[in-house]
Amino acid sequence: MIDSYASEENKEWIASASVVLRGFALSCESVLHTDLHKIISTAPFRHMITPGGFTMSVAMTNCGSYGWVSGRGGYRYDPNDPLTGKPWPEMPESFLTLAKNAAATAGFDNFISDVCLVNRYEPGAKLSLHQDKDELDFNQPIVSVSLGLPAIFLFGGLKRKDKPVRVPLAHGDVVVWGGADRMRYHGIMPLKENHHPVFGNQRINLTFRKAY
Ligand code: SIN
Ligand code: FE2
Repeated sequence: MIDSYASEENKEWIASASVVLRGFALSCESVLHTDLHKIISTAPFRHMITPGGFTMSVAMTNCGSYGWVSGRGGYRYDPNDPLTGKPWPEMPESFLTLAKNAAATAGFDNFISDVCLVNRYEPGAKLSLHQDKDELDFNQPIVSVSLGLPAIFLFGGLKRKDKPVRVPLAHGDVVVWGGADRMRYHGIMPLKENHHPVFGNQRINLTFRKAY
């Protein structure tokens, strides 16, 4: 995949260590779709509760050695799915390779993700500005894959009050941020009604992290 992506022309730098790789996941969309269905057949999407007691509009699940979970007690990475008490589904090879190649293309070598948080946005769902800060090593980047409906990604600064830029993301786009940008606030604007031929009326986001 890297070889067919050598040129700079599909890279959009949105900060010094943050890049949008336009269409990077398109060549593997069908295997991602198949593998996603296997994951959600064992670990279904669910709406998690925030520590403040609100139900999130985004539905989530995970695969990998750990999963990101939220509840009344706070946020954490857990090796088991609290719904089933069993380990999260294994990270499929297609996911692992895509994340590694996207990270390398963005300048982060040897990214071996141990968590893929899968977010499902239906029309109206949004994700408020937040930092990804539950991981152990902030030298490791975040790799974020967009599938299905388009969305507006908000990419802010290191302080919550910094005004975010609005980055339109389409099916197949991958955003990678790390280094000096690792702790930037980010979020997703409420999803608009639309239809995608493969993923239906929803947006799926695969967020790869290295938790430990
Ligand atoms: C996230 O921050 O976990 C998800 C971002 C996105 O849906 O693009
Ligand atoms: Fe995030």
